[in-house]
Amino acid sequence: MMKWTMSAVSLIAVLIAYNCSQNTVNAASTNAITQAASASHNSVLTHVIQASSAGMFAQAKAPAAAPIPVVENTDAVKAGSQVFQNNCAFCHGRDAAGGEEGPDLTRSKLVAEDKDGDKIFPVVRNGRAGTEMPAFNLSTAELNNLQAFIHYRAYISATQKGGRRGVDVSDLQTGNVEAGKLYFEGAGGCTKCHSATGDLAGIAKRYEGLALEQRMLNPSGGKNGVNLVKVTVTTAAGKTFTGSLAYQDEFTIGLTDSDSTYHSWPTHLVKFTVTDPVKAHIDMLPKYSDENIHDLMAYLQTLK
Ligand code: HEC
Ligand code: HEC
Repeated sequence: MMKWTMSAVSLIAVLIAYNCSQNTVNAASTNAITQAASASHNSVLTHVIQASSAGMFAQAKAPAAAPIPVVENTDAVKAGSQVFQNNCAFCHGRDAAGGEEGPDLTRSKLVAEDKDGDKIFPVVRNGRAGTEMPAFNLSTAELNNLQAFIHYRAYISATQKGGRRGVDVSDLQTGNVEAGKLYFEGAGGCTKCHSATGDLAGIAKRYEGLALEQRMLNPSGGKNGVNLVKVTVTTAAGKTFTGSLAYQDEFTIGLTDSDSTYHSWPTHLVKFTVTDPVKAHIDMLPKYSDENIHDLMAYLQTLK
């Protein structure tokens, strides 16, 4: 325990950085790091750190997870990669690890449970009504190669340094569902922004285990890696610009507007307001007890 507490600040920083989208400077990060520093003796942080270091650095501190079956880089995988690059990569990322428009398939529960395409094929053939996921008319051979490629990427991501399967899902199921529900609706204040039957309905289908815990603790980056931090800048001439925070330091404030155009100003020449909807989450980190987290996790995992 103490060993982890020593490096609490740097590990929390890594955890946060890992969750933030790569090309944005997230105001929440600095906040969280400061908070981590001031609360580094809190047991919650130890919990987060244990979970994240086990998952991210695969240091085998966590109880052994089931061995991951080897997936070979076969010809089908190579052919599937081609199909994937042509049809799927611009939403799900070149390595299936998620992109602007589509979720990370390497961490998907559906993919983890898929056997030879039985779960993946229906989604690809029919799309997902009401979402960006389109329906595809692909041959059986193309579909077979696609699923081989997706399973291969999931295997690579699980076994890589930084793979996410260091923690067994059952380790995260020691909490009490009823207590978690009470905390969610009461002391935790979660229902101020969420609903178990609304935005969080099915959350346990979208994330599993450690991924769900990380998502709950620090959802920076938004659902599909979208930058949620907004900034409004008013220039000396009284013109107002609004967009996603793209850069911020002592001297410069930058945003990306709705046309994806980057604008920046010297901070001393403008007035600006940064709003981070996820800040409430970061502010909660020092407040949770280990028990709160376990109970919340138990409860969230019932939202299928
Ligand atoms: C235009 C963007 C887009 C394209 C192109 C796209 N997807 Fe998706 N896909 C999505 C989105 C968004 C979701 C999440 C839908 C939801 O929330 O239910 C998704 C979901 C999925 C899922 C379900 C994941 C889960 O955990 O539920 C699979 C599997 C999948 N896509 C595979 C593919 C494959 C294979 C291709 C290429 C043949 C592809 N997608 C092309 C946007 C896209
Ligand atoms: C002040 C508003 C606010 C409060 C209070 C709040 N959240 Fe959130 N939460 C957000 C925002 C904003 C996001 C990111 C947007 C999103 O992904 O839906 C988010 C995301 C999440 C996600 C990930 C959702 C997803 O689909 O990826 C989970 C899980 C979550 N919150 C759980 C909780 C829990 C549990 C509590 C109470 C302990 C809580 N939140 C309290 C605003 C809040």
